Amino acid sequence: MKQIEDRPISVIDHFDRFTIVFDISISIIGGLIVHQLIPMLKEKFIKAQLWGYDLNKRNSREVKVAESQGVIAAGIFLVLMFIMIAVVFAEHLHPEGVFPNHKFVEYLAALLSICCMVLLGFADDVLDLRWSVKLLLPLFASLPLLLVYFANYHSTTIILPKPVRPYLGQQWNLGILYYVYMSMVAVFCTNAINILAGVNGLEVGQSIVIACSILVFNLIELQGANSEEHLFSLYFMIPFIACTIPVLIRNWCPAEIFVGDTLCYFAGMTFAVVGIIGHFSKTMLLFFIPQIINFLLSVPQLFKFIPCPRHRLPRLDPDVNKLNPSIVEFKKKDLKLLGWLMLRFFSITKFIRYREFTNNDNEIMISTTNFTIINTVLCWCGPLHEETLSRILMLIQIVFGSLLTFFIRYYLVTFFYDS
Ligand code: UD1
Ligand code: MG
Repeated sequence: MKQIEDRPISVIDHFDRFTIVFDISISIIGGLIVHQLIPMLKEKFIKAQLWGYDLNKRNSREVKVAESQGVIAAGIFLVLMFIMIAVVFAEHLHPEGVFPNHKFVEYLAALLSICCMVLLGFADDVLDLRWSVKLLLPLFASLPLLLVYFANYHSTTIILPKPVRPYLGQQWNLGILYYVYMSMVAVFCTNAINILAGVNGLEVGQSIVIACSILVFNLIELQGANSEEHLFSLYFMIPFIACTIPVLIRNWCPAEIFVGDTLCYFAGMTFAVVGIIGHFSKTMLLFFIPQIINFLLSVPQLFKFIPCPRHRLPRLDPDVNKLNPSIVEFKKKDLKLLGWLMLRFFSITKFIRYREFTNNDNEIMISTTNFTIINTVLCWCGPLHEETLSRILMLIQIVFGSLLTFFIRYYLVTFFYDS
């Protein structure tokens, strides 16, 4: 309690305020540039064979939709962040000032990790990499960040919640495990957004909701003791939101462009970076509650206990122009015990719907809806128009990702931690 009373009301000085205003100004310009660039460049992407069919449209095979447009947002974002370096560190540039080398390295490492991930995401869009490779890419991209964390902080201790302290102690030093945890955060954030995808506007929409939540969280926390770390996060979130809004406008139903894996990886890595450097990775993960549920639900298919088709996105019923859950069919005898248990568990909890039938060769077959929360929503309230489905998924993100997190972080947490 004492710690809260001792906190300075605000440690943001005039220079920080100027930097925020500057950040907002160039972000608006950057956003407008992205808005202009997308229509100018999308034909070039199509010519370079970077396009896909919008699978949930009646005329899906007639129109080529430009893919990987997230790379435009990421490119402009990186340019804005390079400009911001000069401004953020400008006050330390006079000869008598002490230049904060550790902060500078942190900033550069964060950008390097994001840059690597954008490159790898674009490579994925061009080469269509295998899932095992996709899972590993963020691990390498997060290395610069982990090294800087090692050099600057070195702290690998976690404070345990109050109820377990009498048994397990006040805090634990996780050592190397803490670094494993941080790299897992990077792997999770990047892939979790990419597997909650397939409906127009969803990938970029969820990224913007998460970014806005982080921004609000940073603004609240700026009043506290660790304001420098939250300022750092703010400098990243403002341009991120500005550069991705134009992508959302054009990716919203009916999609004029696709964002590609580039945007999913770019967004995921940006969130991981600010969460790790800003020391709020646990709160940041709470903003991913819908993605965590979708990942847990996807485990049976991702790890091949149940067959995973190339696309798990919903299936269009062209007669009524509405989406139904997509289905995967396989022989019951191919299902191992663990696969069967998972199928039963998610069926009892109503996340999926399955049925058994006999095929022409008299074999027992299983037909199940794919294991994603997109299909779950359709199982519960479908069939739905694609735009309605996108809106419901955005609402889920806002309620279960953002509002619930703020409730946990500012109310429930007082039962588990001192401040
Ligand atoms: C992930 C999902 C896959 C889902 C796909 C949709 C897993 C394991 N993988 O794969 O199930 O089908 O994303 O993005 O969960 N598309 C649309 N409408 C959209 C978005 C995408 O039709 O609103 C189609 C387009 O044909 C587009 C393609 O999906 O070209 C992009 O798929 P891609 O991002 O390469 O799929 P993955 O990320 O590998
Ligand atoms: Mg994808």
